[in-house]
Amino acid sequence: MASVTSLTASVHQRLATALTAKLPQAAADPLLRRSDRADYQANGILALAKKAKANPRELAAQVVEKVVTGDLIEDVEVSGPGFLNITVTDRAITANLAARAADPEGRLGVPYAEDPGTTVIDYAQPNVAKEMHVGHLRSAVIGDSVVKLLEFTGESVVRRHHIGDWGTQFGMLIQYLDEHPHELDHKAAEVTGEEAMSNLDRLYKAARRLFDSDEEFKTRARRRVVDLQAGDPHTLAMWQKFVDESKIYFFSVFEKLDMEIRDPDIVGESGYNEMLQETCRLLEESGVAVRSEGALCVFFDDIRGPDGNPVPLIVQKSDGGFGYAATDLSAIRDRVFRLKADTLLYVVDARQALHFKMVFETARRAGWLGDGVKAIQLAFGTVLGKDGKPFKTREGETVRLVDLLDEAIERASAVVREKAQDLSEQEITERGAQVGIGAVKYADLSTSASRDYKFDLDQMVSLHGDTSVYLQYAYARIQSILRKAGEVRPAAHPELALADAERALGLHADQFAETVAETAAEYAPHKLAAYLYQLASLYTSFYDKCPVLKAETPEQVENRLFLCDITARTLHQGMALLGIRTPERL
Ligand code: ARG
Repeated sequence: MASVTSLTASVHQRLATALTAKLPQAAADPLLRRSDRADYQANGILALAKKAKANPRELAAQVVEKVVTGDLIEDVEVSGPGFLNITVTDRAITANLAARAADPEGRLGVPYAEDPGTTVIDYAQPNVAKEMHVGHLRSAVIGDSVVKLLEFTGESVVRRHHIGDWGTQFGMLIQYLDEHPHELDHKAAEVTGEEAMSNLDRLYKAARRLFDSDEEFKTRARRRVVDLQAGDPHTLAMWQKFVDESKIYFFSVFEKLDMEIRDPDIVGESGYNEMLQETCRLLEESGVAVRSEGALCVFFDDIRGPDGNPVPLIVQKSDGGFGYAATDLSAIRDRVFRLKADTLLYVVDARQALHFKMVFETARRAGWLGDGVKAIQLAFGTVLGKDGKPFKTREGETVRLVDLLDEAIERASAVVREKAQDLSEQEITERGAQVGIGAVKYADLSTSASRDYKFDLDQMVSLHGDTSVYLQYAYARIQSILRKAGEVRPAAHPELALADAERALGLHADQFAETVAETAAEYAPHKLAAYLYQLASLYTSFYDKCPVLKAETPEQVENRLFLCDITARTLHQGMALLGIRTPERL
């Protein structure tokens, strides 16, 4: 058991013990929080005094008598109407950090969750034969971070990339390719991602033009959809070509995003084809779905259109075709019954909220989502341009994700080059990518997912303010100090008195475990981002106020190096959980 109890948890425990000693029957929560005046403030006595009809200041004074001080708590005093101000000892701060640093698993003393389960997370789900755009960026970036956070807490995580690889447009594409066999003529292995995509894009546009202008082609294309869904081998083989081609492209974009997407985790809409009939049969037999004008529908009391008429979830269209909902319902059955998930997470655009509300409710009625299973859409907001409107090119088209990423890398490379002192050209290229992609991810992750945010590259690659570049520089600066220290190694000296800036930094570093636990439990990477920014800021003030290599005594030099080191390791681990690299030199 390498987990380290945080100072906050220990102080909380001490106060709870004192409260119970004074008021044995009360459920005594001291309501502890970090405070600027002392290290912590406890506000819980006010409510307890009210209940016991006691004078809060007097009660507070009596509780103070019961608090054991010395080793952990330096001082506790009554303040204001009956708050407690608590200061912890310098020794406890350093000793606790030393215990984190010594964690043999390198987890900085962060515990595993007490009761981990199995989460199936649906994220990074682009569509076959289509360009990836900024919406796909958010799903991928948020999803990747949530995967890392959950795995870090010990959760079993199954990743599902529910790509759009099924449906009517494939009939059109396949038919077109069948009639124009040379248009995708090359060996896949020789084709780069972007080439693959521009081939598909060209093909899609040509097919669409023909589909819209030629009635006979349209009929042939429609027939092709039926062949596809019926599993005609030739049609399936052609379809597979599109999927493979698109995957080459997806992988190239995910690689640029510095993100590991594994082929077996790509289970697109087509992966549930075999289940669709049965899903519909089960829904119809149980009466959850009913036939309405030929279509199989699920109705909801509280979901109505502007005309007051109910808006149903259509599971099967009147022509017999299955849509998006049938696939998602089948996926729920697969994830709950076969993969044994107790949590289903969907990192999907907020504009699909109604779809998921209806799908979840349908699955509950059908008994596929029992009480023990949580289904959550982690809905994210829209990426906006600088003008505050949904991000579009000047021509009004959706922006290609690759173009954005390339621009971010280019801008970041310029920043790195300008600051570079001893970096080679190759290093500048490598760091430029790490800084640029980090900037894009951080901008996304540092605002709460549900909110829209502006895609503003100037702000994202700025060295000042709440950016990944700022955090990466803080990390690199620490590494440079550690290198300069040469033979002198970081070492904790709990007997040393700490300066205010050291205390503030140390207390914050000690909160890492709580922050990770909260961030993972709430699927809220922005909380971790805010924590890391605060850590880097506290480090900056520590560095301004406390000389490290020129500190007064050798022990103090070692202890300050130790504070540098634990800060760096926390930054590194925290950024890794956001999917962001921390280069050793910048
Ligand atoms: N491919 C969809 C899109 O681009 C997102 C899929 C979301 N996942 C799901 N299970 N419906 O909008």
